[in-house]
Amino acid sequence: MIEVYGRASKTSKFLSYQDEELDINLLDWLRSREITIASSCDGERVCRKCIIQNGWATCEFTLKTFLEREPDGKIVVDYL
Ligand code: FES
Repeated sequence: MIEVYGRASKTSKFLSYQDEELDINLLDWLRSREITIASSCDGERVCRKCIIQNGWATCEFTLKTFLEREPDGKIVVDYL
């Protein structure tokens, strides 16, 4: 289970995932779940607007890599 916490709304959305989704880019995976992530370079690793906690850019790693870095599966965004 992935928790997406929005600092603006102070609310969370909980998203389940399947093992076959682990290799999907985190930015693309969040978009597929209708979570709005800021971006002006569309995942080209230029704009740095897709930042979550720890300064991580969601376009720079997969869902699997995210879970290795953050085993509790919590994503924190400013504007949700
Ligand atoms: S979408 Fe631009 S750096 Fe990630």
